[in-house]
Amino acid sequence: MFRSPFLVQSSFLICLMSTPELNIVILAAGKGTRMYSALPKVLHRIGGQTMLERVIATAQSLKPQRISVVIGHGKELVQQQVKADVQWVEQNQQLGTGHAVKTALPYLSHQGQTLILYGDVPLIDAETLQQLCQTAGDQIALLTDVLPDPKGYGRIIRQQDKVVAIVEEKDATAAQKTITETNTGIFVLPSHKLASWLNALQNNNAQQEYYLTDLIALAHQDGIEIRPVPVRASYLAAGVNNKIQLAQLERILQQQQAQTLLKAGVTLLDPARFDLRGHIIHGRDVSIDINVILEGTITLGDNVTIGAHCVIKNATIGSGTTIAPYSHLENCTIGQNAHIGPFARLRPDTDIGDQVHIGNFVEVKNSIIGTGSKANHLTYLGDARIGQYSNIGAGTITCNYDGVHKHPTTIGDHVRIGSGNMLVAPVQIGDKATTGAGSTISKNCPPGQLTLARSRQVTLPNWIRPEKDKK
Ligand code: UD1
Ligand code: CA
Repeated sequence: MFRSPFLVQSSFLICLMSTPELNIVILAAGKGTRMYSALPKVLHRIGGQTMLERVIATAQSLKPQRISVVIGHGKELVQQQVKADVQWVEQNQQLGTGHAVKTALPYLSHQGQTLILYGDVPLIDAETLQQLCQTAGDQIALLTDVLPDPKGYGRIIRQQDKVVAIVEEKDATAAQKTITETNTGIFVLPSHKLASWLNALQNNNAQQEYYLTDLIALAHQDGIEIRPVPVRASYLAAGVNNKIQLAQLERILQQQQAQTLLKAGVTLLDPARFDLRGHIIHGRDVSIDINVILEGTITLGDNVTIGAHCVIKNATIGSGTTIAPYSHLENCTIGQNAHIGPFARLRPDTDIGDQVHIGNFVEVKNSIIGTGSKANHLTYLGDARIGQYSNIGAGTITCNYDGVHKHPTTIGDHVRIGSGNMLVAPVQIGDKATTGAGSTISKNCPPGQLTLARSRQVTLPNWIRPEKDKK
């Protein structure tokens, strides 16, 4: 679409005037000992995406000037797996959250605001962060949560209602430990103060770490106001330290996604037994039965029905199509009013036309199947091109692989392949051809004719069956 240069320029100016510059620092150097995994913690997945990718995507939605991600444990793996336009910062020794942000200091601007996020707090949302930035202005805003069991968290210390400091659990007095108002770790502060505060941090505490949380007392002493913002719901600021917490947040995310789909008119027969690990685009009157897993990008037309226990990854499914239970689909396109399954397997690069039927125990790989064609039972179609309204008999196999190379099978329109055929590729079957049941077709079949390739049946009339000697 054409946009006039005037429009582009004026919106750019408005943008410059309304939002202050924003740095985002994401802390992700920790090992995650309690995950008991070879993977660095932030690479564990939630909703099909690594925790770190989720946090980066949320950070990006705020349109910050820069995002720095502090990595340490498994940093090579993190950089390999997380493909994002961010500034990677290496923290080679994990000397504390304050030290981690200090490592990122050379990459940050001294203008505007700096927002601190955590790579292991995956469900933080843009709404919360925008509210935090707005509340902060040129002061500090701190995301807090009142927890019935605050053990392990930094406590918010107030004097005459004003927030003046954060005390870590391990350094807290018995009285401070009774405080239930906790630090989520997420906060926004004025960038121009960051360097002086970080440089003033000491590690003379119980853990001998440079605590980022000590910045709060320093800021208070500098006359900066600390504005607490209670988080809308605890899960938004919940960190993942073990697989139990990861599983809990996964369920929360799945429930939310299910609610969004229900609100948009999708029928989920049981929202508690539905998993979306990616992104779905859908039409009206889509129905999804229990225990369906959708991964990657899924596009569903109107009136698509997905039966129970299907696993579908990166697929486009046309209107009116039914995927019957226990089908497995990956990287494929299916037309309208088709019927797939039950127990069908569509492998990558499969393109199924309108009104096609793919039945039980049929596997299709890298094949194009034209309108109205059918393969209803126990069949393998690999590297095949099948025209329109052709029927593939039960138990037919495209022998597409000679042990070294893959070869194509081309089948025309209105073809009838008999049951139990071996189609030895490369081979072509002409339009309206018919092949006899049990044929091994290794040469091209002419159009419109019957081809048989099987040994003739004989009956030996005078044959005597051998019998055991009677004792
Ligand atoms: C931190 C807060 C605490 C808060 C809690 C919320 C501090 C000192 N304490 O405690 O007030 O209640 O989070 O969950 O900040 N990290 C690095 N480099 C380091 C150390 C940590 O990148 O040198 C990262 C970790 O990978 C993790 C995050 O920072 O993602 C938090 O570190 P963690 O050690 O878990 O802090 P907590 O003790 O939980
Ligand atoms: Ca933690």
